[in-house]
Amino acid sequence: MTSPHALEGRVAIVTGASRGIGLAVAEGLVAAGARVCVTGRDADPVHGAAARLGGVGLAGTVADPAHLRELTALAMDEYGRIDVLVNNAATNQPLGPLMDADPDGWGTAFAVNVEAPLRLVQHAWRAWMGEHGGSVVNICTEGAAHVGPNVGAYGTSKAALLHLTQQLAGELAPGVRVNSVSPGLVRTEMARFVWEPAEDEIAAGLPMGRIGEPADIARAVVWLASDAAEWVTGTDLLVDGGTRVRAAHTP
Ligand SMILES: NC(=O)c1ccc[n+]([C@@H]2O[C@H](COP(=O)([O-])OP(=O)(O)OC[C@H]3O[C@@H](n4cnc5c(N)ncnc54)[C@H](OP(=O)(O)O)[C@@H]3O)[C@@H](O)[C@H]2O)c1
Repeated sequence: MTSPHALEGRVAIVTGASRGIGLAVAEGLVAAGARVCVTGRDADPVHGAAARLGGVGLAGTVADPAHLRELTALAMDEYGRIDVLVNNAATNQPLGPLMDADPDGWGTAFAVNVEAPLRLVQHAWRAWMGEHGGSVVNICTEGAAHVGPNVGAYGTSKAALLHLTQQLAGELAPGVRVNSVSPGLVRTEMARFVWEPAEDEIAAGLPMGRIGEPADIARAVVWLASDAAEWVTGTDLLVDGGTRVRAAHTP
């Protein structure tokens, strides 16, 4: 477990933190001593989460470049620094075969899952990290490594995010570390359509015997954000309960 004081004095932005993995990440960062700035599209859950976390919140979509500028300004005005950036907000839309995909929907998947993380890294770099250093963690997915039915837009955009992570890690070293965490199936709203109808069956096929909980992912993110991972950059940390190796598992 990361030390309870690992992020004392640090400030973190976490996008999409009104519920699910983002909220658990924000809770983990606060437990490690950080102050947080959280986002989400629906205002009430964002402000509720920010209040419970003792931080600040901003409602808006990461697909809107103006929102990302405002978010950076909020963190700097409120706390004067941005040490940690967790690009967590994402969309799994449009679902379905790519031949049916509406180009605008495809574009939105890339705007939310790839462009927004890059824009925010640029803002954080210019506002603080370029001069003072920092740590970026992008939330990818175990599924980015292989193809699957109906998730072509999501998988392609997350594979691009994985590449972006490595590219930025090389460009921004040594001051700023850039890593990703790739979750397997986690009990959240986004993945409810996958786990709810078949949780027992899915869990039985996983080497670790259960689907993931948001806190499983949060612990990995907090570690990567902290100095405990000071020699780690450009890495994708797979936190998937053994999903990738399940073919060798005999329940
Ligand atoms: N759950 C899984 O099995 C799983 C597996 C692999 C990877 N992941 C990744 O984990 C991350 C978190 O997903 P989750 O499962 O925790 O999803 P979730 O429970 O649906 O939570 C998503 C969060 O992001 C916010 N959000 C969604 N779209 C946004 C946008 N355009 N701009 C700003 N905020 C937005 C949501 O609030 P609003 O709806 O109010 O905006 C919410 O706070 C994503 O990057 C996802 O791809 C999840």
